[in-house]
Amino acid sequence: MYYIGVDLGTSAVKLLLMEGNGTIANIVSKEYPLYFPHPGWSEQKPEDWYSAVITGIRELTEGFDKNKVAGISFGGQMHGLVILDEHDQVIRPAILWNDGRTYEECDYLNNVIGKETLSKYTANISFTGFTAPKILWVKNKEPENFARIKKIMLPKDYIAYKLSGVHCTDVSDASGMLLFDVKNKCWSKEMLDICGISESQMAKIFESYEVVGTLLPQAAAELGLPETVKIAAGAGDNAAAAVGTGTVGEGMCNISLGTSGTIFISSEHFGVDENNALHAFAHADGHYHLMGCMLSAASCNKWWMDDIIGTKDYAGEQAQITKLGENHVYFLPYLMGERSPHNDPNARGTFIGLTMDTTRADMTQAVLEGVAFALRDSLEVARSLGINIQRTKICGGGAKSPLWKKIIANVMNLKVDVIESEEGPGYGGAILAAVACGEYPTVKDACEKLVKIVGTVEPEPALVEKYEARYQQFKKIYPAVKALFPQLA
Ligand code: XUL
Repeated sequence: MYYIGVDLGTSAVKLLLMEGNGTIANIVSKEYPLYFPHPGWSEQKPEDWYSAVITGIRELTEGFDKNKVAGISFGGQMHGLVILDEHDQVIRPAILWNDGRTYEECDYLNNVIGKETLSKYTANISFTGFTAPKILWVKNKEPENFARIKKIMLPKDYIAYKLSGVHCTDVSDASGMLLFDVKNKCWSKEMLDICGISESQMAKIFESYEVVGTLLPQAAAELGLPETVKIAAGAGDNAAAAVGTGTVGEGMCNISLGTSGTIFISSEHFGVDENNALHAFAHADGHYHLMGCMLSAASCNKWWMDDIIGTKDYAGEQAQITKLGENHVYFLPYLMGERSPHNDPNARGTFIGLTMDTTRADMTQAVLEGVAFALRDSLEVARSLGINIQRTKICGGGAKSPLWKKIIANVMNLKVDVIESEEGPGYGGAILAAVACGEYPTVKDACEKLVKIVGTVEPEPALVEKYEARYQQFKKIYPAVKALFPQLA
């Protein structure tokens, strides 16, 4: 049988066709626009996602026996607010995970309701990208839209709804709404009250590997697939990526270098970072995880290459970098503000330390290193909680670069295990569909059978030492310039 994984990303949807034995039979990618209507705002049209999924799946399955497609599941960009009216029409464009408009609502939630109270209800505090402050923003700034809300959903859940007719979500993605009692895996009535919404507007909650329904006749006809195809709830993209890289069970780690950059630590037990710098979310394997998320990771390199230098030859630019650990230039990668650990929507990208002999290669290197240093900030929070991590998996577009993997291994002093397939969320989505359809008994069992490590990047002691010194400098830069950022906005 075949299983389809839908990785609903920020720049594109990636669709992956997996055979029951884990072989990837086909991959298709379809882009859609991303809108920045004001500085710091970030929106997409759910209708664009859906049409990209439909055309993408048709292309993905062309030439394959469509009657052998058993299930579809998802890894979706997290936290985005999708609202539908009573006729199931999208009320306004989705407000995305990297949107920074809700700082007033976050201030209200964190300081008036209070971080301790939020953490008691949801295991988390408010960040601008989370869903609850966006609901409050719509309530405050667009009351006419707020009054029309019949259904509230997350990005991938909009696709599941259009395909199956079931208003569903899964525990990992629901965790990022700040409306979900993560420990008890149910909606927090207190948080719904604080946001002025009711449980009838919220989705039914599933574990990521559970079947929510089958294809609606119209969706089956649009896709050219049988109506028997099962839709599994799926997961937020980071939990799905963790499944796709086999990051399940106690104390495993995955780094994702996508548009965002995340460090994901799986656990068999519920746990909270008492300072809430790391998110405490449910995992797609039925358990829990901690996660740090930086808002701009591979997107910093893409911005630097495509928009500033003006080249598509990423490997050629990186080949000019010869002095690892010795750069005098530093880059703060806060092009969309920053989430973990600073929680500062006003933070901005910054180059510092430039001199007349600074080269283009130094600046490219600073961008790659700045992302690694910022990820290390979250790793340090995990270490401060007594979590001992020695090795990590890695996935996402940035993981294609051998140089960047080497920088990550040495800045973080971690062994970096490279997986056969870097298609984290898409592969994870397909695995979740396979588990939902009974091909494997558990997510853990499926990961053990399907995910293969093909190499390890080992940290080199001399380079680790050089990067340790540079990280100590990097850590001082944000506190030194932080007060300037709001004045620059
Ligand atoms: C995680 C987060 C991002 C998005 C990217 O909290 O906001 O990783 O899920 O798609």
